[in-house]
Amino acid sequence: MPDAAFQPRIVAFFCNWCTYTAADLAGVSRFKYAPNVRVVRLMCSGRVDPQFILSAFSQGADGVLIGGCHIGDCHYSEGNLKTLRRFQMLRRLLRGLGIDERRLRLEWISAAEGDKVRVIVNEMTEQLRALGPLGLPGRFEEWDREAGRTEAEAAGSEAREEAAHA
Ligand code: FES
Repeated sequence: MPDAAFQPRIVAFFCNWCTYTAADLAGVSRFKYAPNVRVVRLMCSGRVDPQFILSAFSQGADGVLIGGCHIGDCHYSEGNLKTLRRFQMLRRLLRGLGIDERRLRLEWISAAEGDKVRVIVNEMTEQLRALGPLGLPGRFEEWDREAGRTEAEAAGSEAREEAAHA
């Protein structure tokens, strides 16, 4: 039973030319959408490094949304094709980590599709609410506890790993 009070945190990476402009249009047009999304503007969806996604999840996001220009409309020619390949790879990776792949979503939204931003954000918020919190930062602590590592040991081993790579 989904917790209706749960407010999922969504990190959205939007391309400047299409989806960010559409989100802006949604605002100007006063389309109401869930306030659960925090938008990061990038010049192209192809700029979304897989590390950005993993980082968002590891820092507490319950879902990540990537928005870019429709195929054929990318202002950098093939940026969104790269995004599509990375997205497919990331979904497999998430599945392998035991994370529901619906937590990562990719949508092509043109600058004129303000209402689509509203629909997608609302849909994703409801879907994440049904899935419940991901709570990855808490899960890391749990894994450390299960592995018998204290916080100090975990910090010590991280520092040693960093020193080894310096
Ligand atoms: S410029 Fe929008 S996806 Fe590349």
